Amino acid sequence: MRFQGQPILISGAGRGLGEGIAKHLAAEGAVVGVADINQPSAHTVVDAIRAAGGEAHAYGGDLGNRSEYFGVAEAFRYDAGGPLRAVVNNASVLVYEPIEAVTEDTLDRMLSAGLKSVFWGVQAFLANRDESAPGNILNYSSPVAYRGRPNTGAYTTIKAGIAGLTKVLAGELGPRGIRVNAIAPGSVPTPATEGFVSAEQYAERAKHIPLRRNGTPEDVARAAAFLLSDEAAFINGAMLAIDGGIIAAG
Ligand SMILES: NC(=O)c1ccc[n+]([C@@H]2O[C@H](COP(=O)([O-])OP(=O)(O)OC[C@H]3O[C@@H](n4cnc5c(N)ncnc54)[C@H](O)[C@@H]3O)[C@@H](O)[C@H]2O)c1
Repeated sequence: MRFQGQPILISGAGRGLGEGIAKHLAAEGAVVGVADINQPSAHTVVDAIRAAGGEAHAYGGDLGNRSEYFGVAEAFRYDAGGPLRAVVNNASVLVYEPIEAVTEDTLDRMLSAGLKSVFWGVQAFLANRDESAPGNILNYSSPVAYRGRPNTGAYTTIKAGIAGLTKVLAGELGPRGIRVNAIAPGSVPTPATEGFVSAEQYAERAKHIPLRRNGTPEDVARAAAFLLSDEAAFINGAMLAIDGGIIAAG
């Protein structure tokens, strides 16, 4: 129960990896804020956490919108009965497409959900955090930040931006007792990726991953929880690959 009673807000936690870390942190005692643009999905996750004996609160909102994000963070602070100990910047819209196909609408949606939400998540955390305790910001980047994968222009730009911002904030917020780290999950089937990668393609990918399998949300949640925990008390500005060796082996 490493997170007993700690309010932790998670963006995009209505499904996929966000749902995975929400359930994991709640099982370790955290009071979890499950925020998602798809409000019914947030409630479904919260119902499951409560049924398992955990504490969680659901919020709907477009977290690419600053005032909506602040509204969610303030509501969570109230519902949790105290200031925030951490924020997990997980929300994202995934689209893979050739560069000529990228429309203004898609780019706006992706930048808003995937990058602006990180800025607002950090700001909302700073405005609602527990000043008497160490703070924690965990950002979700990707192996694509390291490699030029064709047809991922918008997504890779966002994930590389998050990698850079994580380092900036580690230096900027470290002196205030806030650790800022990122994870790079690789090849983890979720509702988002399954729209672009078929089961056959995932099976083919596994043959080339050094550990010879794809990842699971629980693989990601365990490593993310480590970075959020006091066991990682001197880790700041890191990008932790959770990818079976994809980045390392190239
Ligand atoms: N699955 C992978 O293999 C993988 C690999 C590398 C990185 N990641 C990263 O992990 C994170 C989660 O990925 P996933 O595969 O679970 O994606 P997902 O699409 O399944 O989940 C993203 C969630 O964000 C929510 N969301 C989207 N826009 C929002 C907005 N404006 N406001 C609030 N919520 C919003 C969605 O409704 C959804 O519930 C993302 O940041 C992704 O880039 C995933």
